[in-house]
Amino acid sequence: MKKGENTRNSLQQEKTRSSFSGKLGYVLAVAGSAVGLGNIWRFPYLAAKYGGGIFLLTYLVLMLTFGYALIVSETALGRMTKKSPVGAFAAFGNRFWFRFGGWINAVIPMLIVPYYSVIGGWVVKYLFEHIRGSASALAEDGYFTNFIANGFEAEFWFLLFSVLVTAVLFAGVKQGVERVSKVMMPLLVILAVFVAIYSMTRPGAWKGVTYFLVPNFKHFSWMTVVAAMGQMFYSLSIAMGILYTYGSYIKDDVDIEKSTKQVEVFDTAIAMLAGLMIIPAVFAFSGGDPDTLKAGPSLMFITIPKVFASMGFGTGAGIVFFLLVLLAALTSAISLAESGVSTFEDQLGISRRKSVLLMGAVILLFGSVSALGFGALDFVSLLGMSILDFFDFLTNSLMMPLAALATCILVTRVVGLKKLAQEVEKSSDFKRKKMYCFFMRYLAPICIVTILFSSIANVLGWISM
Ligand code: PFF
Repeated sequence: MKKGENTRNSLQQEKTRSSFSGKLGYVLAVAGSAVGLGNIWRFPYLAAKYGGGIFLLTYLVLMLTFGYALIVSETALGRMTKKSPVGAFAAFGNRFWFRFGGWINAVIPMLIVPYYSVIGGWVVKYLFEHIRGSASALAEDGYFTNFIANGFEAEFWFLLFSVLVTAVLFAGVKQGVERVSKVMMPLLVILAVFVAIYSMTRPGAWKGVTYFLVPNFKHFSWMTVVAAMGQMFYSLSIAMGILYTYGSYIKDDVDIEKSTKQVEVFDTAIAMLAGLMIIPAVFAFSGGDPDTLKAGPSLMFITIPKVFASMGFGTGAGIVFFLLVLLAALTSAISLAESGVSTFEDQLGISRRKSVLLMGAVILLFGSVSALGFGALDFVSLLGMSILDFFDFLTNSLMMPLAALATCILVTRVVGLKKLAQEVEKSSDFKRKKMYCFFMRYLAPICIVTILFSSIANVLGWISM
């Protein structure tokens, strides 16, 4: 194609819908949205809690089959319709089911970003304390529990993080932040490799390495599968409308199959690296204490400061680490919030300014109750969970399976697997087509429905997982 023609085409494209600058731009954008607190904070604590190696194995199998099929579907549907989730579903019909499918995909990011910002606030607090030179205090037992129990402090750091997110959306400097973060991400990887090696070579840490990497069927429970599936959605940004939107920006020459593979490899590598930083440290610094292993959301904040405090240069390492994690968290929170803002703009027909304010209000309300849930509101227990855990459960274990089910039904019953495969084949030889079709038609719906019902039955106390 001649240069002039190229420019004309891209101008034309620009007028209708913004698009990524190229194939690499697209992969980097998706990887940027995928890598975040989900990899560094969430994956290690779930792996520690739900069986180590057996969790990892379950996660890998789910990601390569089910996750792969869903990423391909959502991206192809976005490219086919050139719409975000609400519009993409509406493009095929206007019955209740279509509207439900679109909206549930669109609402999930709005519910995640408030509690994501609470964790973001914890990261800012730990960065601040390292800068202040309090690395050894952070490493003391009970520090983290006391911190989150102090509602005022947790609320303060949450507000700081959310003001940052909202300010970036207001100022329209989102791309600037993303550019900075793209440069910083390789640094995060280098530092993570370094910390992982340090933590794996501490005395007693090897037991943690084998716990994390070697599957032991004794540790398997049904909850391992439920948690691994929720984590897969979360980490790869599946079942939250994001990939529809990204798909709508790409041109026909992007090989969806190949880019999906690249994003999966990258995202999993970072999660495993985080696991290798944190889980061996539980064994080296807390003697593999089962309570610490099951610490849940607090695991990274309990363990990592102990690793840094034991280094000769822990303050410097702590500052760099929490700064890089903060950047990863910030870019992810911004893209989650941005997805909410564009849904408000498109569906409510309000201005960008008003949409940002509305998103800010949602973050403030749900985030504050989550932040205070370990302090002033600690008497509130929703289905036996703290408020933050409840939002995590609501989105990951209930809403995302429903959103994924809606996508499966749309692909198999409405659009048709053949038409979807044709969309992918525009730029790929779609080697895994047979597996893809089998998975979308049979396994995915069965998995989703079983998992959905078992997580409901579990919280209602009908079964114990
Ligand atoms: N996948 C991100 C993580 O693992 O932290 C979470 C996320 C960020 C999901 C941004 C969606 C998104 F748009």
